[in-house]
Amino acid sequence: MNTLITGAGSGIGRATALRLAKRSHICVADKNGANAAAVVKEIEAASGKATAYEVNVLDGDAVRAMVAQAEAVAPIDALFNNAGISVRSEIKDITGEEWDLMLDTHARGMFFVAQAVLRNMVPRKSGAIVQTSSDFAVMGVPGMAAYCAAKCAVYSMTKALAQEFGDDKIRVNAIGPGPIDTPILRGGRTEEQYRTSVAANEARTPMGRLGKPEEVAAVVDFLLSEKSTYINGQLFHPNGGAVMW
Ligand SMILES: NC(=O)c1ccc[n+]([C@@H]2O[C@H](COP(=O)([O-])OP(=O)(O)OC[C@H]3O[C@@H](n4cnc5c(N)ncnc54)[C@H](O)[C@@H]3O)[C@@H](O)[C@H]2O)c1
Repeated sequence: MNTLITGAGSGIGRATALRLAKRSHICVADKNGANAAAVVKEIEAASGKATAYEVNVLDGDAVRAMVAQAEAVAPIDALFNNAGISVRSEIKDITGEEWDLMLDTHARGMFFVAQAVLRNMVPRKSGAIVQTSSDFAVMGVPGMAAYCAAKCAVYSMTKALAQEFGDDKIRVNAIGPGPIDTPILRGGRTEEQYRTSVAANEARTPMGRLGKPEEVAAVVDFLLSEKSTYINGQLFHPNGGAVMW
């Protein structure tokens, strides 16, 4: 089995790469090449097999070249389309460039990766894809309009792909994690702001704690596995109950 994971150099992507490496070769893709290489070393140290790809998902040509290289080694059976960023900025302050980067990274970047992978999966009539949305896609959060809009786009795209490729025996689902303890939560925050944000996230979550990336990886593993062969076009929320719907 061959699995491509974007944003695999850190956080949720890294945890999923380490978990899936027990049953698959992993294409560890990240714009941070050093982190991707470090994850490959971790996988190899645990007797798994993996290849690092330094790629920015905003670069369609680079994404297509990466997928061609990966397919030359082994067909990509599964994709975790996960690379993402977070920028907190109130709507009165956010610039057009920041808005575009947020929408582009999540919607355009995931489109490039999904398109390149699907072009190979369709003739084989087989495959599974999971895309990372967020619970913010459905709850709406002040100061996060760009992120909420981008993650809603991911969820909508997931449903459209699930409709389009079901007949090709390709399943496409999304995850909408709640607050997960990864570097993205610290980005752009002082230590005090980070602690305030952790406290707020703990307060809004019935389980009273942040999630671990490994707890999200377990859901992705299930959705990419033979255990979920009739699950398609759904949004799963590993979020400790922070959003219920
Ligand atoms: N941590 C959370 O609380 C949380 C909650 C909901 C959704 N998410 C989503 O989960 C996904 C993973 O985030 P994480 O929490 O593991 O954060 P993270 O910062 O630890 O990992 C994100 C990874 O994506 C990579 N990346 C970013 N932009 C890229 C690009 N253009 N091309 C290639 N790689 C790129 C980064 O280098 C990084 O390694 C993101 O899509 C994020 O929006 C996270």
